[in-house]
Amino acid sequence: MRKFFRMLTLSASVVTLAAIAGMSASHAADEAKVSEEALAKGKEIAFSQQTGNCLACHMITGGELPGNIGPPLIAMKARFPDRAVLREQIYDARIKNPMTIMIPFGPHQVLSEEEIDLVTDYIHTL
Ligand code: HEC
Repeated sequence: MRKFFRMLTLSASVVTLAAIAGMSASHAADEAKVSEEALAKGKEIAFSQQTGNCLACHMITGGELPGNIGPPLIAMKARFPDRAVLREQIYDARIKNPMTIMIPFGPHQVLSEEEIDLVTDYIHTL
């Protein structure tokens, strides 16, 4: 009988462990919900001189001949834990700094809403 109870507690812990593992797995999936394809598009928009041209002013890993007018875009998740704040910066840098020389990509319609989302998701991975 005692053996039976031991088995019961053991299987209960196994079930709990499995539930915890399942929870953290779905959390990881949440974090990684931006597809590789979308990130590649965001990078393309950020790097291209026809679209974002962010490299004209910012150092971005993997980008050639970066400018240094703006700060290097590194450790973005640490500095912008909230994606919405990062998006706002890219959408309209004047909100934080009315004297900025960064292009207000949203209001000036240099980038569409969708393009700004793609760029934000990509920059957030840096
Ligand atoms: C003409 C130069 C210029 C261009 C082009 C430019 N930026 Fe900026 N950016 C700046 C400057 C300067 C700052 C520093 C803050 C300020 O003065 O507004 C800045 C700040 C930022 C910040 C905040 C960084 C921090 O550490 O606080 C982010 C994020 C950013 N830019 C993203 C982008 C992205 C993405 C693009 C391309 C879509 C881009 N920038 C294009 C000049 C530029």
